[in-house]
Amino acid sequence: MAGILIKDLQKIYDNGYHAVKDANLEIRDREFMVLVGPSGCGKTTTLRMIAGLEDISGGEIRIGERRLNEVAPKDRDIAMVFQSYALYPHMSVYENMAFALRLRKMPKPEIHAKVMEAAKMLSLGNQLEKLPKQLSGGQRQRVALGRAIVRQPKAFLFDEPLSNLDAKLRGEMRYELKSLQTRLATTAVYVTHDQIEAMTLGDRITVMSVGEIQQVAPPTVVYEFPYNRFVASFIGTPPMNFVTGKLVREGDTWSCEMAKGQRFTLGMKERGKLAENLGKDVVLGVRPEHLHAPQVAPAGCAVCPMKVDVVEHMGDHQYIYLLLDGVEDTVIMKAPPQVKAAPGDIMPVHLDTAAGHLFAGTHEHAPNITLPAGFPRQQ
Ligand SMILES: Nc1ncnc2c1ncn2[C@@H]1O[C@H](COP(=O)(O)OP(=O)(O)OP(=O)(O)O)[C@@H](O)[C@H]1O
Ligand SMILES: [Mg+2]
Repeated sequence: MAGILIKDLQKIYDNGYHAVKDANLEIRDREFMVLVGPSGCGKTTTLRMIAGLEDISGGEIRIGERRLNEVAPKDRDIAMVFQSYALYPHMSVYENMAFALRLRKMPKPEIHAKVMEAAKMLSLGNQLEKLPKQLSGGQRQRVALGRAIVRQPKAFLFDEPLSNLDAKLRGEMRYELKSLQTRLATTAVYVTHDQIEAMTLGDRITVMSVGEIQQVAPPTVVYEFPYNRFVASFIGTPPMNFVTGKLVREGDTWSCEMAKGQRFTLGMKERGKLAENLGKDVVLGVRPEHLHAPQVAPAGCAVCPMKVDVVEHMGDHQYIYLLLDGVEDTVIMKAPPQVKAAPGDIMPVHLDTAAGHLFAGTHEHAPNITLPAGFPRQQ
């Protein structure tokens, strides 16, 4: 058992592309760490450097007390599970799981015990004689997991292991992985671009964008206290709503004033870095669950009329897409099913701005200026 320490890690590919920039990250012993971010942000590159499949251009990786930079992949005691299961097609499920142990010249009875234990854990007990092609996608992925488990590595690395599965199976495997992690209690780094997987599986989440770490924190912290606009927009479905305006103040009341003169009072006392952004362009971010129809709104919201564009009924809730004069994108409200709304209606929308966030400037990585002073990027 061991944690993984990543220090000032760099990856510059031969063509000069800087894929990972100054990454610093501590993955704790037995922690399930999820690396999440859009395509091309450097997730796989980071994982492959930990596994030793990719050279490190700068910095250091340690597992426990041991510096890994110069250690060959096979000696790192790390098991990697890929999106493509990479099973040996001509070997049975049993042989696939036993293979790595045979290479290590482990005695047969010991191999048998380990394979049977993993098979039981993964409900593969009655599939052991089958070839990979006779299995479903979910079963194949379980065999790939089993192959990693029998090796009892110091750490597991997962690169989008569920992305070839259909939505239902993904959900089931997500649950299985989580319960497996609890039983195995081994350090794991799990790469995905699916933020639902990130939120549900991670003890902590590392959000990456363009080769840089944006925030590291438990899922609920990332959701409630996004460090910058990128994190705010990437975590949460449907995504956070953003409107651009100017930060103004009358007496004790702070507001975001829009191009068309609408004002959203912010319902927040002076905090974070509000004062130094007075009179400047800001982006107000409010999640769909913090927009309310008048009949279900809590007290103290900012109110602004918007036009209903589309209504999506989801059963126990609905998403109402709204148009706001002067704002290009639709604004999304999550509403309980009893709220009546039809396309074309004008609705006085109540925004719980006290639960919202303000970002300094309009760029993609604009910092969140409503976080408490000294709020750490990594925790
Ligand atoms: N061998 C290579 N040579 C040059 N550039 C590369 C190489 N491999 C990857 N890259 C670039 O490095 C960046 C990061 O790639 P990486 O595979 O780590 O992304 P990722 O976050 O895993 O994305 P995805 O979600 O699509 O798998 C990308 O812009 C990619 O084009
Ligand atoms: Mg990848």
